[in-house]
Amino acid sequence: MTVKWRTAFNLNIDIIDSEHQKLIGIINKLYENFKLVDKNELVKQLLKELWDYADVHFKREEKCFEKYDYPETDKHKEQHHVFMNKIKEVENDFLNGKINLFDQTFFLNKWFANHILVEDKKYAKYFENNNLQF
Ligand SMILES: [Fe+2]
Ligand SMILES: [Fe+2]
Repeated sequence: MTVKWRTAFNLNIDIIDSEHQKLIGIINKLYENFKLVDKNELVKQLLKELWDYADVHFKREEKCFEKYDYPETDKHKEQHHVFMNKIKEVENDFLNGKINLFDQTFFLNKWFANHILVEDKKYAKYFENNNLQF
């Protein structure tokens, strides 16, 4: 399942919004390519790209939470950790031929969209209310 970018995803923090768009784009590409058996190399590459890019993005958010003592830092970081583990799990399943296209990409996309709409929105609001510059 692919996710279409919609305005509700916007936090109005440019760098974060563009990273979120990029990450959703990578997951969508994964979905489109899992089913193509001859695209093994591409899928591996996309999973690596997703891991690397998510890592950079999550670290950027976490650095900012710590800088301003965001009260939900630990809970938010834990969620990032769950997602990173899930990417590894998908990669292992893919390499072992156990991949379930629908379940795995559905989970990644649903998780990520939900994370933006709930947890990321919370910090954007906190930063806005406290006049903090991301
Ligand atoms: Fe985020
Ligand atoms: Fe986040």
